[in-house]
Amino acid sequence: MVSIVDSAIEKYLRSFAPGRPDFMLEMEKYAEENYVSIIPPEVAQFLTFLIHTNRSCNVLEIGTAIAYSTIWLAWAVEPRDGHITTIEINDRRAETAIQNIKTAGLDNRITLLKGHAVDIIPELKDSYDFIFIDAAKGQYGWFFEELYPRLVPGGLLVSDNVLAEGLVVLADEQLRHRQKTSVRRLRDYLKMITTHPGLETTVIPLGDGIAVSLKR
Ligand SMILES: C[S@@+](CC[C@H](N)C(=O)[O-])C[C@H]1O[C@@H](n2cnc3c(N)ncnc32)[C@H](O)[C@@H]1O
Repeated sequence: MVSIVDSAIEKYLRSFAPGRPDFMLEMEKYAEENYVSIIPPEVAQFLTFLIHTNRSCNVLEIGTAIAYSTIWLAWAVEPRDGHITTIEINDRRAETAIQNIKTAGLDNRITLLKGHAVDIIPELKDSYDFIFIDAAKGQYGWFFEELYPRLVPGGLLVSDNVLAEGLVVLADEQLRHRQKTSVRRLRDYLKMITTHPGLETTVIPLGDGIAVSLKR
């Protein structure tokens, strides 16, 4: 993955990331060895900060992978006895996530829903005060339409990977054919959430780019 943050700065920032148990370090190693893209610790630290600041309790995550971010989110809501609902389409990853959640002792705090978010989100009856989107970038716009009504006023919508390793700033002819559609959709998504009258959005060049939107 190409970093949008200077690598020396990134390394320096990472030195301030919170300590974590060995099983989390093992998950980081597993992710690297198996090409699973997970949030870096400094992004986990930022999400934790947002959850504490906003006193979030009921969290929805789209894109569990192996539950690395899910575990960070669960720790962040622990002081308010909160809950995480997380969705993963890939069966193998979902099974690994279930094992990792067990290892973390967080089975009671996390509900993992296996399947396509496009099918699952419309079935969700709950409202959420923190929504983390970290799945297929080309689908963020569709997710948003379904998620916006499920976000409480004052709640936060956090969208990950919105700078797509810097691809969003390249001219179309510099993009590979297969990148064009998802990058165009991502640009449209960013435009939509930064101009939406119901949201206050800021884009932060941390990790692979994080958009934080507050629902008015
Ligand atoms: C970037 S990874 C998530 C990383 C994880 N949030 C973390 O930081 O530890 C994206 C995950 O989203 C899943 N995904 C992609 N599209 C999805 C969809 N439509 N519904 C559910 N999961 C999806 C992928 O299988 C992948 O495991």
